[in-house]
Amino acid sequence: MLNRPRRNRKSQVIRDMVQEHHLNAADFIFPLFIINGENRKTEVSSMPGIFRYSIDNLLREVESCMKLGLKSFDLFPNLEESLKDKTASESTNEKGLYLRAIKEVKAHFPEACVVTDVAMDPYSSDGHDGLVENGEIVNDKTLEILAKMAVAQARAGADIIAPSDMMDGRVQYIREALDAEGFTNVSIMSYTAKYASAFYGPFRDALESAPKFGDKKTYQMNPANQREALIEGALDMQEGADFLMVKPALAYLDIIKLMKDNFDLPLAAYNVSGEYAMVKAAIQNKWLDERAITETLMGIKRAGADVILSYHAKEVLENKWI
Ligand code: PBG
Repeated sequence: MLNRPRRNRKSQVIRDMVQEHHLNAADFIFPLFIINGENRKTEVSSMPGIFRYSIDNLLREVESCMKLGLKSFDLFPNLEESLKDKTASESTNEKGLYLRAIKEVKAHFPEACVVTDVAMDPYSSDGHDGLVENGEIVNDKTLEILAKMAVAQARAGADIIAPSDMMDGRVQYIREALDAEGFTNVSIMSYTAKYASAFYGPFRDALESAPKFGDKKTYQMNPANQREALIEGALDMQEGADFLMVKPALAYLDIIKLMKDNFDLPLAAYNVSGEYAMVKAAIQNKWLDERAITETLMGIKRAGADVILSYHAKEVLENKWI
């Protein structure tokens, strides 16, 4: 036999030598949930091991991540219902939870990369990512709200603004608003191909942000569509995005590959809450062992993701699984 592929698998040293893909601390963005109050840390019941932190504990959590080499964070606020309204006005409140959290993290850890979320849902009494008028999520009036939110986050110190709302034209609208305020160096990581997915359930538990009526299908993409991701990608390229993103990741590995093959911007993939919950539940039940975590993350990397947003980021480093 001339060809014996098994020769390159015969020892750990050789297997390591020929390994094509690697996961590194620098690949990850760690999503963190924030809650009001002091010295609070409440577990998200559908996401074992993931907590909502009050700002003081958030700083402790960021510090322990930084020590592991995990230096990028995507922050999301859980707000009490009384602060929510039709126009997401709390999103620009400088004394509010979210903008204070950004400021505090940057003040204590200037070398950390803070990614901030732009969408109305955590602040909206309708629980939608855009402005609701007569039961409809209206696009163009939402843009102004998103741009104000983005500028407020940039002012608080955000390094990367990540619009997760899926309104048309928002990347350019936000880019122009940031530039007009002098934030030309603040980046935009666009949720380019974000699908209307069942895998966001635990995240909506974490933020208590589920839509109060209907679903998100008029703005998030149909899971059955592939070419449509190329339309979104081309628009984000034109509109000035710095990163593209595919979300969720696991059921969309073909989309990650497609985007990687077609666009040259760095590509992020969001290994979402439901994907985390699924793997964790199986491990807790001893139906799978922990190697399922790195195998999952490697699949996302192999498909073409340069950056992975994952709730597993800290545990894989803590346990030296990568
Ligand atoms: C909403 C938003 C969602 C997530 C990030 N931003 C949920 C949604 O669209 O309803 C999901 C993240 C996750 O599931 O981990 N702007």
